[in-house]
Amino acid sequence: MLRQKGFHTLPLLLFLIGLVGVIGDEQKKFYIVYLGDRPVDKDNATKTHVHLLSSVKGSQIDAKDSMVYSYCNSFNAFAAKLYEDEAQKLANMDQVFSVIPNQYHKLHTTRSWDFSGLTQTAKRKLETERDIIVGLLDTGITPQSKSFKDDGLGPPPKKWKGSCGQFAKFSGCNNKLIGAKYFKLDRVPDPADIFSPVDVDGHGTHTSSTLAGNVVPNASLYGLANGTARGAVPSARVAMYKVCWVSFGCSDMDILAAFDAAAYDGVDVISISIGGGNVNYTTDSISIGAFHAMKKGIITVASAGNDGPNPASVSNSAPWILTVAASGIDRDFRSEVHLGNGRNITGLGVSTFNPKKELYPLIRGADAALNSESKESALFCTEDSLDPAVVKGKLVYCKLGRRGSDSVVKGIGGVGTIIESDRIYDAAEIFMAPGTMVDGTIGEVIDDYLKSTKTPSAVIYRTHATKRAPAPFVAAFSSRGPNPGSLHILKPDIAAPGVNILAAFTPMRSLTGLKGDTQFSDFTIMSGTSMACPHIAGVAAYVKSFHPDWSPAAIKSAILTTAKPISRRVNEDGEFAFGAGQMNPTRAVNPGLIYDMDEMSYIQFLCREGYSGSTLPTLVAPQHINCSKIIPGLGYDALNYPTMQLSLKNKQEPTTGVFRRRVTNVGQAISIYNATIIAPKGVEITVKPMTLSFTRVLQKRSFKVVVRANPKMSSIMVSGSLVWKSSRHTVKSPIVIYSPQG
Ligand SMILES: *[C@@H]1O[C@H](CO)[C@@H](O)[C@H](O)[C@H]1NC(C)=O
Ligand SMILES: *[C@@H]1O[C@H](CO)[C@@H](O)[C@H](O)[C@H]1NC(C)=O
Ligand SMILES: *[C@@H]1O[C@H](CO)[C@@H](O)[C@H](O)[C@H]1NC(C)=O
Ligand SMILES: *[C@@H]1O[C@H](CO)[C@@H](O)[C@H](O)[C@H]1NC(C)=O
Ligand SMILES: *[C@@H]1O[C@H](CO)[C@@H](O)[C@H](O)[C@H]1NC(C)=O
Ligand SMILES: *[C@@H]1O[C@H](CO)[C@@H](O)[C@H](O)[C@H]1NC(C)=O
Ligand SMILES: *[C@@H]1O[C@H](CO)[C@@H](O)[C@H](O)[C@H]1NC(C)=O
Repeated sequence: MLRQKGFHTLPLLLFLIGLVGVIGDEQKKFYIVYLGDRPVDKDNATKTHVHLLSSVKGSQIDAKDSMVYSYCNSFNAFAAKLYEDEAQKLANMDQVFSVIPNQYHKLHTTRSWDFSGLTQTAKRKLETERDIIVGLLDTGITPQSKSFKDDGLGPPPKKWKGSCGQFAKFSGCNNKLIGAKYFKLDRVPDPADIFSPVDVDGHGTHTSSTLAGNVVPNASLYGLANGTARGAVPSARVAMYKVCWVSFGCSDMDILAAFDAAAYDGVDVISISIGGGNVNYTTDSISIGAFHAMKKGIITVASAGNDGPNPASVSNSAPWILTVAASGIDRDFRSEVHLGNGRNITGLGVSTFNPKKELYPLIRGADAALNSESKESALFCTEDSLDPAVVKGKLVYCKLGRRGSDSVVKGIGGVGTIIESDRIYDAAEIFMAPGTMVDGTIGEVIDDYLKSTKTPSAVIYRTHATKRAPAPFVAAFSSRGPNPGSLHILKPDIAAPGVNILAAFTPMRSLTGLKGDTQFSDFTIMSGTSMACPHIAGVAAYVKSFHPDWSPAAIKSAILTTAKPISRRVNEDGEFAFGAGQMNPTRAVNPGLIYDMDEMSYIQFLCREGYSGSTLPTLVAPQHINCSKIIPGLGYDALNYPTMQLSLKNKQEPTTGVFRRRVTNVGQAISIYNATIIAPKGVEITVKPMTLSFTRVLQKRSFKVVVRANPKMSSIMVSGSLVWKSSRHTVKSPIVIYSPQG
């Protein structure tokens, strides 16, 4: 409940269940059917798909009717509406590799760039930055936003094959926003949305402008957080693939169609702030889409999820995805509250309203119950629980129940709300009427005051932004490791700002989306790993503008090995919260060494993880992989990953892991790197050799890291590191030791 508070996006979840029922034919569901052969041209693929489908449907017409999409650019599959037995029949056919039911995903919902060191004056390669195309899979975009004006930009790069078009309530593309499409393959109209790439929700406009928005001076949320808003790569081009819908969320079939289109269109980086898939790398649509993108040299950056601090909650955890956690920046939004007895307290959240009176009567929600039955819900100020006659003209003190009690109170004539919660949420809530949130300690002060007088009163002042110490901390909501998809890969990979981020917003929705809200703004603050993801996608684009030929793995390695350390003292979940650390964009362009990987590396990894040849075709078709015939991947994790994670076998004996790694020199031709190891207590780490010397650029050197851990550890996870240091570079890999038995 509490965790949903800060996100405009999470309420979507509530609608995801039971979509099939909405479609009408209760028995039929949408499935994605994966075929083995190399995709051909679109017309032919569709013909082949209809032909195959008609063999179970009985007729060509039925087949055409139930077919909703042919995927034919980067992989060969189709989506169709089928009875279960039809799906089963298809699954049994030779040319069909797997049939996966369509599911619905959820969204994971500017100063941040200065805080991260990528200042407006940072060194840029503008010529190549202008050739970078970033693709977002999201809720759509606001084309008329200042963030997407195309001043100074020429026509799209030649490689661009995408398109825009004319859509409802959509003013069109330009040389900044070069592509916009929407995918809604179930064709069920969404009462809160429209068939157009226009952004009715605000999420996609926000993420796009964080990634690649123009420099917009004097941006603010009602004067709050004012300053210059800009994306990581303000000269890059933007392509929006709308796959998320206000009422229904984001479906597998739409996500796959968008990946397929983006890869064909020619994007360089894909940013996807969506989660909620499964942890099986061969059946989750984001994992599948990202794998095919990787094969075409496109890096996919995805949000880790907002299910923290629960352990093993991280999503989008495939090793070919760059998985992003959310950290906080040095800014808070606070409101002063004066109580009638002269006492001043401070609450958190954004309230843009100036009080009209010195003090208002203050009442507890529980004392304003409509009747005896509603006493319990009145404590939380939920809909229909309060007596309008009692609430009118007053501030109401409520316990945190569900989002929107400010709207309930305002709707029946109240002035505003003070919300008390035992756990203060990192992200600032925006209120639609005077409001603020206080923790349990301040709650006691208010309780004591309410008891002390017959005529309690208070006033909430307009919010102001405050600075806090600039130590990065990982947001409580940010999803944590260990990686539920593999015990051998550390996830999340990295942390980036995701708390109270100011970026562009849609004019089609009020700031809160709550009933009665009359606040609209071109910019707003949002929080979530959704907001952290486009920061890293932006860094990936920035790195790519310096190194257009680097592979997705090389870009990821550069970002991870140059990350800034985050203190474990204020972040007790350590690497399971922040991965390699806080992003450090300007260093990422010059990492010295990179850990590179290609498609075969990931296949070797999957075989080692126990995926059999028969489950791999969703990723590797038209290749046929027989795991027992390929050269096995080397070392403990069978992958050249830039971080290392050893999971203990049991509590009885020590566990040893041998990590085989190979680095490529991308720094000075002649360079020498020495290893520095930090091992946690109870763990022995050695590296061989201890020195790597290079005589030319792109030269590769191999080494091995042996990690031996005692069965008894001081906590469920301990960590150390391996650092390769030359006179100019520091290349750092965290080494994590995890004890599944605790
Ligand atoms: C279409 O597919 C059929 C068989 O699937 C093949 O024989 C034919 O050559 C293909 N045509 C084109 C234009 O690719
Ligand atoms: C900056 O924005 C504020 C509020 O939106 C506005 O009142 C002010 O005139 C703007 N200043 C400039 C220099 O544009
Ligand atoms: C933000 O607004 C305040 C008050 O209007 C002003 O003093 C300050 O200079 C502004 N800051 C920026 C970065 O524009
Ligand atoms: C992933 O899903 C496939 C298809 O359902 C299944 O055969 C396979 O065993 C699963 N793999 C893992 C590692 O869970
Ligand atoms: C509360 O704040 C007001 C105005 O900022 C100030 O005048 C007053 O002295 C403060 N009261 C206390 C007890 O600090
Ligand atoms: C994979 O290769 C092994 C060893 O050559 C063989 O025994 C097995 O039948 C092959 N599996 C498949 C599905 O082809
Ligand atoms: C690496 O180690 C060698 C030998 O111990 C030493 O001479 C050299 O200065 C070291 N280089 C760096 C960059 O620390």
